[in-house]
Amino acid sequence: MKARWLACALPLALTLAGCERLMHDMYEQPRYGPDAASPLFADGRAERPPPPGSVPAAMGTLAATSSGHLGRDELVARAQAAAASAPAAITPALLARGQERFAIYCEPCHGPLGDGEGPVVQHGFPHPPSYHEQRLRDAPDRHFYDVISQGHGVMYSYADRVTPQDRWAIVAYIRALQLSQGARVAELPPALRARLPASGGGR
Ligand code: HEC
Repeated sequence: MKARWLACALPLALTLAGCERLMHDMYEQPRYGPDAASPLFADGRAERPPPPGSVPAAMGTLAATSSGHLGRDELVARAQAAAASAPAAITPALLARGQERFAIYCEPCHGPLGDGEGPVVQHGFPHPPSYHEQRLRDAPDRHFYDVISQGHGVMYSYADRVTPQDRWAIVAYIRALQLSQGARVAELPPALRARLPASGGGR
């Protein structure tokens, strides 16, 4: 009995010792430390600069948009201050950006018209209110910005996916959507008003 136990235990012990040796070799393999020199690269540095076009994710506005990178209160405060108010000018480029971001992040539930008939809702997610409700037509821009940033009821926050600038772009696009479904005739530019049939057709 004792001999059999030994016969089993001995190879096991040897194997484990081999393992330990292998681990040790992995710890000890050659590697560069921070700021080390290297003959491999023309600039003599082992540390490689980030490729052109890299965007820092641990600082700046992006950091304050990702819950994974929050941390320094000052950075967050600065990003929030920078995004505290809507952009001064609503440009076609801003609207186009808002439309693109809306299609990615909001349309699945709110639908292309903003009436809350997106495909996710048709599969059982709670129905969001239509952006064309009077209450949401009357709501200030900031309300939409805050809903994107903090979530609202069962709708979760999009702060980790939509930067503050993009939130304002989406808000501008939602305003355009609201106009598209209910502009007052008196608010239309004269050129558009002239194209309306004489009987009216707007509100
Ligand atoms: C997964 C589905 C879903 C997505 C995606 C979504 N929402 Fe919502 N949203 C909802 C639901 C559901 C409600 C209603 C929440 C409640 O009242 O409990 C809602 C409510 C709202 C409201 C109304 C808040 C109020 O005052 O009643 C606004 C504005 C809004 N969402 C904007 C957005 C924007 C902008 C985006 C894209 C950045 C977005 N939502 C993405 C589901 C979604």
